Amino acid sequence: MAKIGNIDVGDFPLLLAPMEDVSDPPFRALCKEQGADVVYTEFISSEGLIRDAAKSTMKLDIYEKERPVGIQIFGANLESMLQSVEIVEKSNPDIIDINFGCPVKKVVSKGAGAGILKDIDLMVSLTEAMVKHTKLPVTVKTRLGWDKDSIKIMEVAERLQDVGCQALAIHGRTRVQMYKGDADWAPIAEVKNNSRIHIPIFGNGDVNSPEKAMEMRDKFGLDGAMIGRASIGYPWFFREVKHYFKTGEHLPPPTMLERLDAARRHLQMAIDWKGEKLGVFETRRHYTNYFKGIPHFKEYRMKMVTSDDAKDVFAAFDEVERDFSGYQFA
Ligand SMILES: Cc1cc2nc3c(=O)[nH]c(=O)nc-3n(C[C@H](O)[C@H](O)[C@H](O)COP(=O)(O)O)c2cc1C
Repeated sequence: MAKIGNIDVGDFPLLLAPMEDVSDPPFRALCKEQGADVVYTEFISSEGLIRDAAKSTMKLDIYEKERPVGIQIFGANLESMLQSVEIVEKSNPDIIDINFGCPVKKVVSKGAGAGILKDIDLMVSLTEAMVKHTKLPVTVKTRLGWDKDSIKIMEVAERLQDVGCQALAIHGRTRVQMYKGDADWAPIAEVKNNSRIHIPIFGNGDVNSPEKAMEMRDKFGLDGAMIGRASIGYPWFFREVKHYFKTGEHLPPPTMLERLDAARRHLQMAIDWKGEKLGVFETRRHYTNYFKGIPHFKEYRMKMVTSDDAKDVFAAFDEVERDFSGYQFA
């Protein structure tokens, strides 16, 4: 049974990865319904938070129904990170997660995200200060190292655990790899097998089938799988993995009616959360995946992604239901 601080997250939990512009409250709620055991917000800039930038503070919104939920923050400045902890606590999350893995230039160039992999002392001291500044469990998400010649994840894991980090999610790539090549889970398993390590070690990177999730559990012996891209527009991934764990069999893909139900609720939750204009706009990116692979669908998709009024998008969903409700997904 894995525990993050005092939070019981079950046997081999499936965690929804933090993903910028994807892991917002409506999407997290859908993933939770489909079996995600822990969900994370997208990364939030500590500098943005302390400036009270509206875009950053909106990212702090969480729904009761998605708990346990972690709010992820990034930054490299001690004072800003500590102030952010205080701001984040007001949203009452279950976990505060620190992003020490983002490879994007504009983050790394400020020494934040994966940039901090070049300064492990700073990574450890920031984490220690944050742990001391809050009663909430503090967790870290990071990568194997800066590049293949500086894989220091074992040292990082031991030192973070020693200063009170309560769980570690490790993406099996270096910063230099960005998203290229295959994620390497072997160094993550080495961390897990270190007898000094007692906090949960979650694996991340390329879990894109139930078989892969099972391999992460049984062959690599990790404590849970953090899932990113496989869930985008496909929150059913979580239930498919859980069903496979339980029965050894694959669930059939979601039906058209299930997909429509998700799309309708996703749009409605987004509108309730951020208003019609933004809700309509920001939910568009999910439809391509919800309705992937249907022949002669362009006209319907165009209506979904070009209409500015929610009622037109809902009308497009109704047309899909009328014309495709019996469609069998492969
Ligand atoms: C669109 C997108 C946005 C992401 N944003 C974040 C983020 O905000 N914070 C973070 O720690 N990782 C972020 N990541 C990285 C993912 O959390 C995850 O580590 C990576 O995608 C590998 O896992 P996967 O193979 O299951 O997708 C992002 C990835 C994608 C594809």
